[in-house]
Amino acid sequence: MRFFIDTADVDEIRDLAATGLVDGVTTNPSLIAKSGGDFFEVLREICAIVPGPVSAEVTATDTATMIEEARRLTRVAENIVIKVPLTPDGLKACRGLTDEGTKVNVTLCFSAAQAILAAKAGARYVSPFIGRLDDIGADGLALIAEIVEIYGAYPDFTTEVLVASVRNMTHVVEAAKMGAHVVTIPPAVLRAMFKHPLTDRGLEAFLADWAKTGQSILKQPADTAADDAKPARRSA
Ligand code: G3P
Repeated sequence: MRFFIDTADVDEIRDLAATGLVDGVTTNPSLIAKSGGDFFEVLREICAIVPGPVSAEVTATDTATMIEEARRLTRVAENIVIKVPLTPDGLKACRGLTDEGTKVNVTLCFSAAQAILAAKAGARYVSPFIGRLDDIGADGLALIAEIVEIYGAYPDFTTEVLVASVRNMTHVVEAAKMGAHVVTIPPAVLRAMFKHPLTDRGLEAFLADWAKTGQSILKQPADTAADDAKPARRSA
C-alpha cells in the first residue's frame, strides 16, 4: 500500500518525507487556500521534495477549461497528477487528458457507480472520500470494499483506489486490509500511526536497564573497536 499525504503545508511535507514513508502528495483548492501560498509556487516546492505523484486540482467546471488548466499545471513538474471532479465534464476531461498521457485523479467520489465511471474514463486514481461519508452517517469503508471488489473483477480497469478524506488510523488499517492501492493521510493521522503506549513504555524500560550496565555502543573498548575494522568473518 502506498502512502500519500493530504496537505499543501510544505514544512509538514518536508518533515514527513524525511521518514521515507511518503510516496506522494494530494492537494485540493481548500488545502492550497489553507497553506496561504501561491498555487504554482507551492506545487513547485512540493514536487521538489517528493518525487512521487503530486495531485493538483483544476478549478474550472467545463471540460475545455479544465484541460487548459491541466496543461498549465502539468508544466510545473513531471510528477504532477491532475485532479478533476467526478462530474460529466470532469470525466470528459479525464478521458481527454488520459489520452494525452496525463495521469488523472478523479476526486469527490462518493459511490461505487461513480467509481465505475471514473475507471471507464481512464482515471489513474479514483478518490473516494470516506470521512465525509462517515460524517453524514454512511459507511465510507464499505464503499472502499465495494470499489476494490468491482475493480478486482475487471483486469482491464487500471484505475487505482486512492482512499481520501481519511480521519483516523482505523481508516488506514481497514483500507489496507481491503487491498486499497493508496491512502492519502492527513499529517496528524500519519504521526499518530507511529504511536503506541507500550512502545513508549517498553523503550523506557530498555533504556533504563541499559543505563545500569554502564556500557555504550559507540564508546567501545579499544580492542573491540579494532575488531570492527577487520573484514567480517564469513560464516561456514
Ligand atoms: O484531498 C481530498 C480529501 O482527502 C479531503 O478530505 O478531510 O476535507 O474530507 P476532507
